[in-house]
Amino acid sequence: MKTIIEPFKIKSVEPIKFTTREERIEILKKAGYNPFMIPAEEVIIDLLTDSGTSAMSSKQWSGIMDGDESYAGARSYYRFEKVVKELTGFKHIIPTHQGRAAEKILFSIFGGNGKFIPNNTHFDTTRANIEYSGAVAVDLPCKEGNDPDLIADFKGNIDLNMLDNFIKSNKNNVPLVMLTITNNSNGGQPVSMENIRETKRICSQYNIPFFLDACRFAENAYFIKLREPGYQGKSVREIAQEMFSYADGCTMSAKKDALVNMGGFLALNDDDIALKARNILVVTEGFPTYGGLAGRDLEAIAQGLNEVLDENYLKYRIRTVEYTGQKLINSGVPILVPPGGHAIYLNAKKFAPHIPPENFPGHSIVCELYIHAGIRAVEIGSVMFGKYDKETGKHIPPKMELVRLALPRRVYTQSHMDYVIEAIIEIYNKRENLKGYKFTYEPPILRHFLAKFEPIV
Ligand code: F0G
Repeated sequence: MKTIIEPFKIKSVEPIKFTTREERIEILKKAGYNPFMIPAEEVIIDLLTDSGTSAMSSKQWSGIMDGDESYAGARSYYRFEKVVKELTGFKHIIPTHQGRAAEKILFSIFGGNGKFIPNNTHFDTTRANIEYSGAVAVDLPCKEGNDPDLIADFKGNIDLNMLDNFIKSNKNNVPLVMLTITNNSNGGQPVSMENIRETKRICSQYNIPFFLDACRFAENAYFIKLREPGYQGKSVREIAQEMFSYADGCTMSAKKDALVNMGGFLALNDDDIALKARNILVVTEGFPTYGGLAGRDLEAIAQGLNEVLDENYLKYRIRTVEYTGQKLINSGVPILVPPGGHAIYLNAKKFAPHIPPENFPGHSIVCELYIHAGIRAVEIGSVMFGKYDKETGKHIPPKMELVRLALPRRVYTQSHMDYVIEAIIEIYNKRENLKGYKFTYEPPILRHFLAKFEPIV
């Protein structure tokens, strides 16, 4: 059979509330033209994030009932620890309430003034935790990763020469190197096994620990199976285990590839670092056998980490993103290619070239997606990352103006995606009608969350 179907039956459903165009115009206006301010109930298809939005399986829900809520030494912790150890091979498994809590602990230990932490591209929370510690977050994406129109297999790779040179010239001030798999801030693009292995080799040369930001490890492993020579005959679990085998530890947001709504962990091999991490954990998160989580959450994570490695699931997951991307490309819609693992990224610079970056072309598309079809997406461009020149006050745009449509796991079906595709194509065909926006309130930091706008008429 050529048709790839959703590899699950639906046992429990959540109704979608339908709104009219007129209602949505009012809702968006009331939200200050900021989609983060729209009540989720008023959204028809919510593609704001793939984080914490997964549908859990019946086995995960039964695990929730079975969770052991003992303060210390809960059975659910030992199950969670066993599953994570089997997958990652790391010696110490430290549960946290989500990914950024693991990052906070890691950089309380490795960060600090005068330090530099390289990565392919840091996710915002990783960067924020590094900078909060006084260190500098350094992005070293490979050349291909900077070109949204170039088709290549592993655009998430780190530039190995730049990494080597960077470490050479900052030798004693690079306490840790990271790789984010897949590279979320750069289009959800995968990192090859060769790139992971070579990163490890460089780190070993200088005796620097190497950590993975592993939120989307299963999607990355599946891309390796599809694209990297020598991996077609291996199982995704074996590939994931090999990826982890090159690292000294990882941070994990379980809200992605552990298929749960809340959770995370820090895992590592070094005994002294683990002791330090657990000492911080008891102050900020909780006792080492629950971290920031309930016993039931640990059960759901343990179950989810096994389910995510089901290759029928991954085939459907990656194919859904590819299918959506292909239909958009066929209609001439400019997107970042090739489609990544968890999201489609529209190229707003090409989609709405008549809107200059300072009037937020990506934001304009996001607003129109909501008005036209009740779809919620997120701008990753001048609203999120724009800066001002200190002397002239002129707006400095980021390299790319993107709109991310992230797919929650196991939540939407193919006809939901057909609806999204139809809406985007309709907006693209009338793109000259898109209008720019300006701030009516501009917050001092992370402005996309709380900003208010109005359309420029
Ligand atoms: N690392 C990456 C690559 C991420 O994408 C995220 C979260 C985190 C770390 C932090 O994890 O949210 O559990 O604290 N990304 C979400 C997103 C928020 O929408 O991309 P967290």
